[in-house]
Amino acid sequence: MKIDIVYNRKELTEIENKTVIVIDVLRASSAIVTAFANGSKSITPVLEVEDALKLYNRDNTLLLCGERKGLKPDNFHFGNSPFDYKREYIEDRNLIYTTTNGTKALLAAKKAKHILIGAFVNLRAVVNKALSFGNDITILCAGREGEFSLEDAFCAGLMVTTINSLVCNLDIEDGARWGYNAVKSVKGVLDVLNDSEIQTFLANTKHGKYLLSIGLQNDIEFCACQNIFDITPEYNMNKLMTVVGSMSFSIGK
Ligand code: MLT
Repeated sequence: MKIDIVYNRKELTEIENKTVIVIDVLRASSAIVTAFANGSKSITPVLEVEDALKLYNRDNTLLLCGERKGLKPDNFHFGNSPFDYKREYIEDRNLIYTTTNGTKALLAAKKAKHILIGAFVNLRAVVNKALSFGNDITILCAGREGEFSLEDAFCAGLMVTTINSLVCNLDIEDGARWGYNAVKSVKGVLDVLNDSEIQTFLANTKHGKYLLSIGLQNDIEFCACQNIFDITPEYNMNKLMTVVGSMSFSIGK
């Protein structure tokens, strides 16, 4: 099995027979996982706010969710904070979702054999799900407006470290080797990092500092929590559905 990390969606190639794990730690992939953990029925990612509004005008049972510049767009029901996706708001509801980086990365991976959503909050679950398919794995970092995202790269490196501990003779491509070594340089002799160390790391990234500047400290704390959900959202037929643990279950379109 080969594994690689791609740090910019524009560099994503040859994924037709691969499993792609899409990471946008702050905050799309953390928010998507939380929404499914709280019972949302499906999430349809779209590129533009206008696309979301058009779909809503056709079906106003949908919920408009997402962000631009980290904040809820006008006329949307919810923003992109995991705390927006409380069970009482979104259970059994179909969400239309658009964000600055996360949805662009997700849709850039459409040709992949399997597309999964990963973050710190479901790291072990998404690794197990990706390994269950048996395909080569590419981990795609959403980045930030086309730039390198330190938080996504760190999460990707931690995923490579986890996969390497589970798979014999893993063929680690250069991009993945870089992330793996970066994590080891942060972890040092520690065999694990605790949530507060990850929270400190996130708070010192470019996007983390921006989120702090608009008062979203709680989001950073939440997105740093490791393995709090055994949920693996999978993208198929233009919609994200959820996979709980190792079982897929149909929850209707
Ligand atoms: C995104 O999720 O695409 C962005 O990282 C923006 C955010 O949620 O703050």
